[in-house]
Amino acid sequence: MQFNPDIVISILNSFNNDLRQHSYNVCYLSVLIAEHVGYSQNQIATLAIGALLHDIGKSCIDEALLNKPGSLTKKEFAIIKSHTVLGAKMIENFEESKVYLPIILYHHERWDGGGYEGLAQHKIPELARIVTIADAFDAMTSYRPYQQPKTLMQALKELNKNKGTQFAPYLVEAFESCILKSIKNPCNFKKLYKYLNDQIINQKCKLKEVTS
Ligand SMILES: [Fe+2]
Repeated sequence: MQFNPDIVISILNSFNNDLRQHSYNVCYLSVLIAEHVGYSQNQIATLAIGALLHDIGKSCIDEALLNKPGSLTKKEFAIIKSHTVLGAKMIENFEESKVYLPIILYHHERWDGGGYEGLAQHKIPELARIVTIADAFDAMTSYRPYQQPKTLMQALKELNKNKGTQFAPYLVEAFESCILKSIKNPCNFKKLYKYLNDQIINQKCKLKEVTS
């Protein structure tokens, strides 16, 4: 089967609201970073689709477990952790899906090698490194049943605290610089997405909220 935008949209529409919103946010933030570091339009298109699908495996996991407050048992953590491999299996039979697999499989790697699969630094595919930062930032600034959202500045502080251990330092620096610039100039948001729907562009409202 061909992997086309209609398939991506129908996959996103099958997600619950939280997962769909998170996927849009991660896509938006990832593209923001990629534009800032000078990726080509082709690379950005791959990144955008990969970011939209990065957590597709979570659509197979019980929502109660995903939203469980407090600590997880070893077994529960193993189930949640499996979303990367599950997600890759869900799309691997689509033609042209191979370019998205590294993002789905490796967005939980850490720069120091302590992530899900133990890849470190430049062994982590670069598109996945970008999505890791966008994913962490969105998770920190969004409401979850188990946490109050951090403000934008608190989240940036947290990213900086973990650069070189969890996150690629040069990408944290790029992210900080481009997100602050974009918030100062909301027009920048509009040029990013020609092929995705308006919901993504509207994320500027969310980013404004977290600055307060
Ligand atoms: Fe994930």
